[in-house]
Amino acid sequence: MNEEAAAEIGGRIPAHPLPSSSRAPGKCILFGEHAVVHGRPELLLALDLYTQIGVRAAPATTLNADRTPLEHNPYLSRALETLWSGRPPLALTAVSRIPRAAGLGSSAAFVAAVAAVLCAADGGVERARLHQIAFEIEQGAQGVGSPGDTAAVVGGGYLTLNSTAGRPLWQVRDARHTWSVHRVPDPAWSWLIAYSGIPRDTGATVRAVGERLRQEDGPRLLEEFEQVAHEGIAAVGEEDREKVGALLNRNHGLLQQVGVSHPRLEELLAAVLPACEGGKVTGAGAGGSIVVLPKLGRELEASRRITRAGGVAYLVRPALRGVELVGPADRGTGTG
Ligand code: MEV
Repeated sequence: MNEEAAAEIGGRIPAHPLPSSSRAPGKCILFGEHAVVHGRPELLLALDLYTQIGVRAAPATTLNADRTPLEHNPYLSRALETLWSGRPPLALTAVSRIPRAAGLGSSAAFVAAVAAVLCAADGGVERARLHQIAFEIEQGAQGVGSPGDTAAVVGGGYLTLNSTAGRPLWQVRDARHTWSVHRVPDPAWSWLIAYSGIPRDTGATVRAVGERLRQEDGPRLLEEFEQVAHEGIAAVGEEDREKVGALLNRNHGLLQQVGVSHPRLEELLAAVLPACEGGKVTGAGAGGSIVVLPKLGRELEASRRITRAGGVAYLVRPALRGVELVGPADRGTGTG
C-alpha cells in the first residue's frame, strides 16, 4: 500500500458502539527526543509492534480483571475522566507486544487505543482531533512531554514534528507550544531496536533534561539538537544510509551530554555498532532502548550481537497505519 492510500484509510476513526476493539502501534524516535519538548524538530516512526485494547460495558471498571485499575494507571484514569466522565463502568482488556517503560511508546499506544474506542462509541473522531485528545491525556498523566509519541501512534508511518519537510498533516497545541505534524516518505529500511531491560520514568527524565538545558550551555545544545534533526530528516529523505548513521551518532553524543545515556546502553551500542551505520539512545533514555541502522545485509548479525550482549532485539519496520478499530475477527490476536 502506498502512503497516500494508508493516509486515506486512516483519515477518520468511524463511529462504533461498544463492545469494541482497537490497536495502536508503538513508536521509535530517530532524531530530536527531549529537544522536541522544547519546540524543536523530531523525526520518528510508528513501529510494527502493537497494543490491542478491548472495551465493553460492565458492572465495574476493570483492566485485565484488575478491579482497582484507576489507582494503578494514571493514563487510564485520565482517559476515562476526559472521555467517559459520568458514564457507566467499562471492562477493558489490554494485550501488548511493546515493552513497557522502554522508550517505545507503550503509554502513547495504550492512550490512543483507549481514546479511539471511546471516541468511536461517541460517534467517531477525526485523526487530528484524536491526536490532540491523546496528547492531552498522555501529558496530563505524565505532567510533562511533547506530542511526538502520540503523533506516531495516531498517524502511523514516518512523521516529523516542527519541520517543514514532507506533507503537512495537522497541528497540536498546549499552553506553551504549537507543534506541526508532517508526513515524510518511508525509505523502506529495517531498524534494529535493543531494549536494555532497564525501565525508566519518562516524566522524571524529561524534567531532569529540562533542568540540564537551563544551564549556560543549554541554548547551544538545543541549537545542536535542532541542527542534527534537520540534517537527519534530510538524510533519511535522500536515503543516504551512511549520512544517517553519522547523524545518529551525533545525536547520541548530544543525548550523552544531557545525561540520558546509561552504562548498559553504551555496552549495547559498543556491541552492535561494528555491524551498523550508526545508532543512539531512543526515547527518554536513562535506561530503555537504543536504535541502530544495521549495515545492509548485516541485520541478523547486528541482532545476534545485541542478543549476545544481553539486550532484547527487535528488527522493526514502520507500521503504515496509526491507531485503528479492529473487527471481531482480529480480537484477541494481540499483535499485528
Ligand atoms: C519520550 O518518548 C520522548 C521525549 O522527547 C519526551 C516527549 O517528547 O514527550 C523524551
